[in-house]
Amino acid sequence: MAEEKSHRIYLTGFMGSGKSTIAPILANTLGYTSVDIDREIEKSAGKTVREIFESFGEEYFREIERKVLQELSHREECVISLGGGTIISDVNLNIVKSTGVLVYLKVSEEQLFHRLKHKTDRPMLSSLPTGASEIEVQQHINTLLARREPYYAQADVIIDMEGKKVGVTIDIIMERLRQMSSPQQK
Ligand code: S3P
Repeated sequence: MAEEKSHRIYLTGFMGSGKSTIAPILANTLGYTSVDIDREIEKSAGKTVREIFESFGEEYFREIERKVLQELSHREECVISLGGGTIISDVNLNIVKSTGVLVYLKVSEEQLFHRLKHKTDRPMLSSLPTGASEIEVQQHINTLLARREPYYAQADVIIDMEGKKVGVTIDIIMERLRQMSSPQQK
């Protein structure tokens, strides 16, 4: 693995997959800094993600997201927690893949539904009508996930998060990164 790529770790995965929880712990373990793209977008726009969606819509949010991603792709020794939709674009996926190691935190549809069903702060879920039934919420998550999975599947490292404690997840990611930087070692 090219030296400079191993110095930048991107975390991807659906909303609620644990990216923001894992990023600072992984960064700490590696001695890197941790950065959350949504927080950087908010700093850049001077508005919360929700406000950006509400005032200007998703397309505008994606424009800022790409600009911020481009900036972050030059940072050294960092773990970057992406938004659930950041790599759902060939351009963005290419930026990520060419500048770092992409780690996908894979969570099942059922788990995502349990984690997200009561969340009201996710603009990508608030397109559902008020009072949507649990089945409608689940279908919405499943459809969005199915559309995104082909992008997530292009990650360099895929971690099945099912039933894993945070510490175990970190150990597995560290081991996979170690294997990538010295492929001859078992
Ligand atoms: C989005 C996920 C959010 C945030 C924005 C759009 C998405 O980030 O970037 O609301 O398209 O899935 P999280 O995955 O951190 O919730």
